[in-house]
Formats: sequence, C-alpha cells, structure tokens
Amino acid sequence: MAKRTRTLIVGNWKMNPQSADEAKTIFLGIRKASEKVKRVDTVVCPPFVLIPALEKLVAGRFATYLGAQDCFYEASGSFTGNISPALLKRSGVSYAIIGHSERRALGESDEVVNRKTIAALTAQLKPIICVGERERDADGKFYAEVEGQVATALKGVRKADLKNVIIAYEPVWAIGKKESEAMTPAQLQEMAIFIKKTLVELYDASAATLPVLYGGSVTSANTQGLLEVREVEGLLVGRASLDVKDFGLIIGLADKRA
Ligand code: PGA
Repeated sequence: MAKRTRTLIVGNWKMNPQSADEAKTIFLGIRKASEKVKRVDTVVCPPFVLIPALEKLVAGRFATYLGAQDCFYEASGSFTGNISPALLKRSGVSYAIIGHSERRALGESDEVVNRKTIAALTAQLKPIICVGERERDADGKFYAEVEGQVATALKGVRKADLKNVIIAYEPVWAIGKKESEAMTPAQLQEMAIFIKKTLVELYDASAATLPVLYGGSVTSANTQGLLEVREVEGLLVGRASLDVKDFGLIIGLADKRA
C-alpha cells in the first residue's frame, strides 16, 4: 500500500453551538491544535449561519477548513430554505457533508444524495458522502445496503472528479453512542475494504485512493485503534468536535499515526 500522506479529521457540529462567539472560541481552539500538526487536514462543519463568523479565521496557512452540513442540488431559484453550493463556496466553505444519516432519517433518498453530490462538485465543493447501514443482520445483507448507497451517490460522477470526493462510513447504530459502543477496528477494516472494492468495481483501480472516513461515537479514547485501520483515511466526529480538548487530542493522534 502507498505511503500515507495526510489524514482528514472532520468535525460535524450539528445544531451547535448557540452563538457566534462560542463558535469562534471553539474554532480558534481547534485551529490551534491543527497548527501544531503537519499531516492532518481539519474540517469544521458549523451550522450555516455561523459560517460568516468563522470565514475570516480560515486564512490560507492553517490546514483548517470550513465545511457545510448539507447543500442543495440546484444552483439558485425558488427553493425556500435551501442553500446553493456556489453560495457556500463563495462564503469560504471547501467541503460539504452530504446524506448524513440524520438527514436521510428525515427523508433524503439516495437519488437526492446523488444530485447534491454532483451539484457540490460542480461548485467546487468537496462532498463528504455519508453512507452506512441502519443495523447489522446475521446474513450480511447490510453490505448490499452500503454498496447501493455508494453506487447511487456516485451515479454520473466523472472519474476526473473523484479526487474531490470523500466517503464517510457511518453505521447508524454506532452514532451518538458511548465510545465503547463505537465500531471495533476489525469490523471497520472489513467495511472499509468492502467500500474500496465497490469503488474499484464502479471505476477502476485508481478509485481505491478515494478517502474513506469513519464516523460514529469517535472520541480521543478510541481514535488510535480506529486509525490503525490502514484503509481508513480519517474520521468524522460529532459530539467530540465541540470539545476543544478532546478534538485537539484526536487531531494530535491522527498526526502521529503510522
Ligand atoms: P457522534 O456523531 O460522533 O456524536 O456519534 C457522528 C456523526 O453523526 O457524524
């Protein structure tokens, strides 16, 4: 396997924090932690309205970027409540989480995830496409569920655009749990290999380099074990990304991985 270059650590703040001041304080703490490391790219995904408060804090030399928690699939028009990828791009956003299971639970289909992925790429945002089974069955049918999510999300995505695509594997059953209930590294490795195999079947061998992240109850306590999985290029962190100390430790551990 090729030598690893960088690890991607993404913080999904969900509907937090509750003020721009608080967001700036947390963001600056995270930026400080990522300034200290060399081999990690850090992405923070705040609520939309907090993006302008953080935009000025992502100036070039820090490997700390802004991400959105979603984006719409149209560029403009009469779509009340939605936000265009191009506007996000112009607001200093570089990445967009797409198809998070909490959005899928509200009715977002694989087809919508696909349209949003293409729209994000067109606007030069890097889509972080979330996939993951709701639960595990003894027969292993969940593999087909994940394969279907990956294949549909990438329908019509050109090979040339793949370098900007990230897949985040987040089994729904492991999100928002105690860190001891997160996935085990062994389970994660099997799935990461399966996702890479799916990508290679959809495109060709070069698609195996597409970053696959893990998400679901990540804390500094389970980071090291999860990042021992060679096939995983980073982590998507929910609650722990609002805790400067813990997220800083996660970033530091990611920097030290072999
Ligand atoms: P969690 O959330 O780390 O709080 O489990 C992860 C996610 O939903 O992306």
